[in-house]
Amino acid sequence: MRIAVLPGDGIGIDVTAEAAKVVRAVGEVFGRAFDLEMLPYGADHYLQTGISLPPNAHAMLRDQFDAIFIGALGDPRIPDMRHARDILLGTRFELDLYVNYRPVRLLDARLCPLKDRGPSDVDFVVFRENTEGLYVNVGGRFKPGTDDEIAVQEEINTYKGVHRIIRHAFEYAQANGLTKVCMADKSNAMTHGHALWQRVFWMLAAEYPGIQPTHLYIDALAMQVVKNPAQFEVIVTNNMFGDIITDLGAQLQGGLGMAASANLHPGRTSMFEPVHGSAPKYAGKNVANPVGAILSSALMLEYLGLKAEAAAIEAAVKESVVTGHGTAEIGGTLGTRETGDYIAGLIKSQR
Ligand code: IPM
Ligand code: MN
Repeated sequence: MRIAVLPGDGIGIDVTAEAAKVVRAVGEVFGRAFDLEMLPYGADHYLQTGISLPPNAHAMLRDQFDAIFIGALGDPRIPDMRHARDILLGTRFELDLYVNYRPVRLLDARLCPLKDRGPSDVDFVVFRENTEGLYVNVGGRFKPGTDDEIAVQEEINTYKGVHRIIRHAFEYAQANGLTKVCMADKSNAMTHGHALWQRVFWMLAAEYPGIQPTHLYIDALAMQVVKNPAQFEVIVTNNMFGDIITDLGAQLQGGLGMAASANLHPGRTSMFEPVHGSAPKYAGKNVANPVGAILSSALMLEYLGLKAEAAAIEAAVKESVVTGHGTAEIGGTLGTRETGDYIAGLIKSQR
C-alpha cells in the first residue's frame, strides 16, 4: 500500500515520525508492505520555493496513493497560514473529503478534566462536515483597513453537502450498533442555512427507526458535552461547529495531543491527521505527545480495511497510556521518540 506522508511543520514532524514507526512495526508483525512516501510540502518548502503544493499535487495524491497521512501545519514565519490552508483545506476540498471523523474516546479516567468520569462516560464520535459551511472562504472585504470596512464571510450549506454528512452519521451508527445520533446547529439564529440542516436531519432520521435522533443547538451541545458526555454516541454538525466541539472533545480525552482524526470520502483516497496544531515552541524538543498521530494512523489502517492492524495499534496505545508510558501530557516521563518506541515495542511483542 502506498501512503503519502506529509510531516508538515513544528511538532507535526516529531509526531509523524512516531506514527510512521508504529505503522512500520505493524507492517512487520502482520506481514504487510507499507510504502511510506515522505513528501516535503510544508512551511520550509513554501518559504524556499514560494509554492505550497505543485499544480498537479492533489490529482497525484488522489490517483497514486491509497491514503495520505499529514502532520500538523502552521509556522510563525507564515502568519497568514497560506501554505496550511492550501495543503490542509485544499486537500479536503479538492479530494472532496466531506467527512471529518473525530472519535472522542477517553482511555484512562485520570486524564479526564471532568470529575468522576471514566472511559465509559466519554466515548462518542463527531462527524464534522468538511467541505463547505464557513470554510469555503466566500465573501470579501470592502474598504479594508478603514473605519468604513465591511467584511463578509458567507456560510454555504448545500442540500448535497448536508445530506451526505448526515447520511454518513446515521449509516455509521447503524453499522456500529449505536442507537443515538445528535445533530447540532444554530437554527434558532441562522434561520436560512440551518433550516436546511433541520429539514434534512429529520427527513433522514425517519429512515432509521432503530436510531433515536436528537437535536441540540450548538451552545447547548457544548454545555451538555461537559455536563454529561455519556449521553452521546454520534454527533453530526457543520464545519465550524465541528472544529470547535472537537477541540473540547480532545480535552475530555486528556488534551489536544490525544485526539485523532480522519478526513474521508468513502471509497476514495482519504487523509488522516491528528487534531492538534504545529505548536512551534515545542518543535524538535522530543516533548510532543505522539498519541493523536499514532491513533490517526490506526484510523487510516482501519479505513484501508486492515481492522486487526488498527486494533493492534489502539490496544498498544491504550496500554501505554493506562500504564503511564508517555509524555508529560499524560503524566509520563517519556519523550516523543521513547513513546513511539514503547508503543511499537508493545505491538511487536503481541505476536
Ligand atoms: C483542524 C484545524 C484546521 C481547521 C485549521 C488549521 C484550518 O483547526 O483541523 O481542526 O479549522 O479545520
Ligand atoms: Mn481545529
